[in-house]
Amino acid sequence: MQFQWYPGHMTKAKRQMQEDIKLVDLVIELVDARIPFSSRNPDIDTLGQNKARLILLNKSDLADEEQNEAWAAFFREKGYYVVRMDARSRAGMKQTLSVIMESCKEKIERDRRKGIINRPVRAMVVGIPNVGKSTFINTFAGRACAKTGNKPGVTKGKQWIRLNKNVELLDTPGILWPKFEDQSVGLRLALIGSIKDEILNVDELSLELIELMRREYPGILAGRYEVEENGSAAEVLGQIAGNRGCIRKGGELDYSKAAALVLDEFRTGRLGKITLEKPAGKA
Ligand code: G4P
Repeated sequence: MQFQWYPGHMTKAKRQMQEDIKLVDLVIELVDARIPFSSRNPDIDTLGQNKARLILLNKSDLADEEQNEAWAAFFREKGYYVVRMDARSRAGMKQTLSVIMESCKEKIERDRRKGIINRPVRAMVVGIPNVGKSTFINTFAGRACAKTGNKPGVTKGKQWIRLNKNVELLDTPGILWPKFEDQSVGLRLALIGSIKDEILNVDELSLELIELMRREYPGILAGRYEVEENGSAAEVLGQIAGNRGCIRKGGELDYSKAAALVLDEFRTGRLGKITLEKPAGKA
């Protein structure tokens, strides 16, 4: 499968991010907990050099809890702070704020030695499209939070959202683009729905999902769709079509409808909490 982004768009966004990163102490990077490797753009490590780094394993409500643990350990080992998150819920706010302070403790200490006390930590949110950046900012900043910084139309400048007296967040996230050099990265992004289905072969995608599911999570398809998991992925899809009434007018099986159904049930979590890649072997 081939994917095309707009290079001009990307260059501009990257330049903007380079500027914005200079203004912050901390980079909060969102990744999708179902594909923490494929939903990262490694350029962020260069862009975020010398900044405190926090990785939010977002959408962890849809991912395998055991793998959430494994990925959190993997990133911590590499020196990142990590929080598992469902950005739609405010439940993780307290923990996240305390990890933000912890991640910037050296900067706070440096300030203190210079006699600067209570200067808020400044952070920005970055990530590839669809990982939940806007959701995170909305949930965490909410309407009640005071906006600080320059007023639009008066002075050109950045809008900062005050999360509490210690932390300010840049109100616009930095967008990174995924890296497609590796085909399996594109495939996994497509599986979680980060690439529009109109440009994809949904049938092919669902066969990949079926392969992956029965290898990594045997029994789930059998249980949900009452199918035999042995046999080819196409045979499994055919059984799903039959059992779920995906039948064309002439009575033949509607594979495409069944494919769309399986993908949708995976993406919305109805197939269960599933992680598509493991940290083992990842650099
Ligand atoms: P972006 O700014 O990074 O591009 O992502 P955005 O916040 O727009 O989120 C993309 C989609 O992911 C949204 O769903 C959002 O609700 C959902 N989402 C964000 N964080 C989480 C999370 O932690 N868990 C789950 N399960 N979903 C999350 P949508 O279908 O595009 O919109 P809507 O259904 O919310 O209207």
